[in-house]
Amino acid sequence: MRYHKEFEHWFETPEGEHLFLRPIRPTDKELLVAGMQRYSRESIFRRFMTQKQSLTDDELTYLTETDGVNHIALGVGHRITRDDQDCIEGVAVGRCVRLVSQPNTADFALFVGDPWQKKGVGTLLLIHLGAAAREQGISEFTGEMLTRNLPMQRLVKSAAPNARWYVRGEITEVEIDLSDLPEP
Ligand SMILES: CC(C)(COP(=O)(O)OP(=O)(O)OC[C@H]1O[C@@H](n2cnc3c(N)ncnc32)[C@H](O)[C@@H]1OP(=O)(O)O)[C@@H](O)C(=O)NCCC(=O)NCCS
Repeated sequence: MRYHKEFEHWFETPEGEHLFLRPIRPTDKELLVAGMQRYSRESIFRRFMTQKQSLTDDELTYLTETDGVNHIALGVGHRITRDDQDCIEGVAVGRCVRLVSQPNTADFALFVGDPWQKKGVGTLLLIHLGAAAREQGISEFTGEMLTRNLPMQRLVKSAAPNARWYVRGEITEVEIDLSDLPEP
């Protein structure tokens, strides 16, 4: 398992909140569990496209113990003080998983917690995830979303205007050439 320190990045939201982006670590399991409790059923449904109340131990292992080569996961967090203790609250996650049948392509997904949406976090995650994937020889992202998930479609259309779209009833698939994404 590799931790790519070069992917660490601090940035500021339009409201002046300081957030950091970094690769997800095995020790982030509690942050994911807390996020599942804090963020809305609808956002979690849009991410997993199924009703999910919690994550199993196996899912938490899969989501946090990534190799950084075939499975790249980036998280966004911010530092908060709770009960006089400094701690981190998870804000967003972006990940991609290389396809075994097409090693130059990876399946990708984004999740931004409800209060952090519409601040550019998802776009930034996609751009950084694309750059991290390119370093591992991945040249294309493919992803599925609900056809009614217009925020995700607007995000991709704005970041990757040449993306290819396939609407299949309730599910829409997108393919993005990573060269189409801006540099971080
Ligand atoms: C879809 C999703 C990832 C979008 O993330 P996001 O952080 O809200 O996306 P962004 O802020 O980068 O862009 C979304 C909108 O905010 C706008 N925006 C971006 N920066 C902004 C800013 N500084 N101020 C105001 N608006 C801003 C964008 O222009 C865009 O507007 P539009 O929808 O009218 O085109 C997020 O809504 C989410 O996680 N939803 C639940 C899970 C999900 O749907 N995942 C996708 C399936 S894999």
